[in-house]
Amino acid sequence: MSELLRVENLRVSYHTYAGEAQAVRGVSFTADEGGTLAVVGESGCGKSVTARAIMGLIPVPPGEIKEDSHIWYEGKDILTFSKKEWQAFRGAECSIIFQDALASLNPTMKIGKQIAETVLLHHETDKMQAWREAEGMLGKVGISDPEKRMHQYPHEFSGGMRQRVMIAIALACGPRIVIADEPTTALDVTIQADIIELLKKLQSERHMTVILITHDLGIVADMADKIVVMYAGEVMEEGTDTDLFYHAKHPYTEALLKAVPRLDMGVQELAPIEGTPPDIVHPPEGCPFYERCSHAMRLCGYRRPPAYEFGEGHRARCWLYHPLAERGGE
Ligand SMILES: Nc1ncnc2c1ncn2[C@@H]1O[C@H](COP(=O)(O)OP(=O)(O)OP(=O)(O)O)[C@@H](O)[C@H]1O
Ligand SMILES: [Mg+2]
Repeated sequence: MSELLRVENLRVSYHTYAGEAQAVRGVSFTADEGGTLAVVGESGCGKSVTARAIMGLIPVPPGEIKEDSHIWYEGKDILTFSKKEWQAFRGAECSIIFQDALASLNPTMKIGKQIAETVLLHHETDKMQAWREAEGMLGKVGISDPEKRMHQYPHEFSGGMRQRVMIAIALACGPRIVIADEPTTALDVTIQADIIELLKKLQSERHMTVILITHDLGIVADMADKIVVMYAGEVMEEGTDTDLFYHAKHPYTEALLKAVPRLDMGVQELAPIEGTPPDIVHPPEGCPFYERCSHAMRLCGYRRPPAYEFGEGHRARCWLYHPLAERGGE
């Protein structure tokens, strides 16, 4: 698959009263055309900040995108976009589905108008045509009786239905990339599965590239072909779904896997990861997972591990793979 979007050494900070919160610290990955890239990690590890950077939605200040950060799309670094270029990019090339549909929708505006407005923003068409396109889109995301539903307000939809509306809005302008930031976290488990199915269906119909952001590895198994595991603003491990689910190298990935139920593993004991992530205002010099890692060696506490390769595209930042390290810790 060919590369469509490449994030390279992305560093994003927020200037707060407590100091500089280094939310994203040197993140790199690529999203392939038509593929699904999952970005996984615990709360606060920088997933949404990364997504916002790709959408040009980091407020500056308090946010700051550090020098030497790049996000390449079609040979251009989108971080150098003008306001006009961002407007053209957002919606038509890349769009985002947020977790909280209720907060993202306008409560006082008919659903139909909210979708049609997005269409009008990017397509040269009249209001009637935009309305018809919006109605078609509502049908495509599985909302029955779209003609009637177009005239209703967000509160008249259930949580799952509202998330479908969000998907309709995100897809209204036919973007090549869709970022789904925890699209199902607020929903019941069965509805979560429906939404993931819907995303998969639309993705294959439209040959879209999906960047799926979640803290739940269980959701990823079904959809992603490439996975990036983030921790405290850094990428700990990346690889294909097979690499990560069956040949995980980083102790953090292993810990994440033990924390989710797996259908292919029979009955297992789930083990939550003990401890908490480090303070990102004073990030540790060594491996950020050091304090919580059951394999930690002295070196991990003060020196940042390099990325070791285990085959094409499978990399993990962990000192255990230094030729002189003995797995199992000191
Ligand atoms: N506007 C902001 N001001 C200050 N700090 C922020 C701001 N936005 C994000 N951060 C910090 O950046 C870090 C990364 O946040 P981010 O929202 O990317 O986490 P996340 O991985 O998406 O977590 P979750 O799974 O909870 O959504 C967090 O420590 C957060 O507190
Ligand atoms: Mg988030």
